[in-house]
Amino acid sequence: MSIDRVKEFAEVYTSEKDVNDMLDIVNEETLRIDSRFLEPACGNGNFLVQVLIRKINVITKRYKNSKVEFERYIVQAISSLYGIDILKDNVEMCRKRLFDLVIENYNKIYEKNISQKFIKTIKYILSFNIVWGDALSLLDQESKQPIIFAEWSFVTGSLIKRTDYIFSDLIAYQPFEKDTLFSDLGEKVIIPDPKYSYKPIHYLDLEKNVKEKS
Ligand SMILES: C[S@@+](CC[C@H](N)C(=O)[O-])C[C@H]1O[C@@H](n2cnc3c(N)ncnc32)[C@H](O)[C@@H]1O
Repeated sequence: MSIDRVKEFAEVYTSEKDVNDMLDIVNEETLRIDSRFLEPACGNGNFLVQVLIRKINVITKRYKNSKVEFERYIVQAISSLYGIDILKDNVEMCRKRLFDLVIENYNKIYEKNISQKFIKTIKYILSFNIVWGDALSLLDQESKQPIIFAEWSFVTGSLIKRTDYIFSDLIAYQPFEKDTLFSDLGEKVIIPDPKYSYKPIHYLDLEKNVKEKS
């Protein structure tokens, strides 16, 4: 961390204890494998890492005896985490920390017997979910186009469906007003039009996903 970066980008990290104190406020959500989290100025991912640790603990407890289920739910957990940072090295470090956490926990149970397809899927999702972007202008730093986030939904057993949304459309609605986004509680939900949607595909073949005709 440099003084210049602290001055220009407020690059000061939250301690692990403070992160966990804050996550405890929404503890039940952190334990829900598919509950989505966005860290909008994620740095190297201090919040996302702790959320992933909690989710992996749940997955390990429930599914450690089935490699297929363990993998499937890890994919679901990774696909639920989103981050944005304006500094490219932070984005890379955030992706790496989340990836390393998955591999470390996988190896603890399955002793390095990891499938290359699984690795590819995890990297693929992280490359979309952790965005090098500006959370104020809502522009992707690489393309200079609006930030797009992919929603990954398991539609049946192993099939995952990707739907892309423009981030500014997602936040155009105020979450605590009458109409709430992605509510599980039965309120009226407003879902913006997707930018793209893709055909459902096995989660281990995610890289081969194909856009649906609209
Ligand atoms: C205070 S740090 C917080 C990092 C992390 N969320 C944490 O709590 O440990 C702020 C982060 O915001 C990033 N940042 C600053 N301006 C930003 C912007 N306009 N869009 C996205 N990220 C930004 C910085 O690069 C830095 O990593």
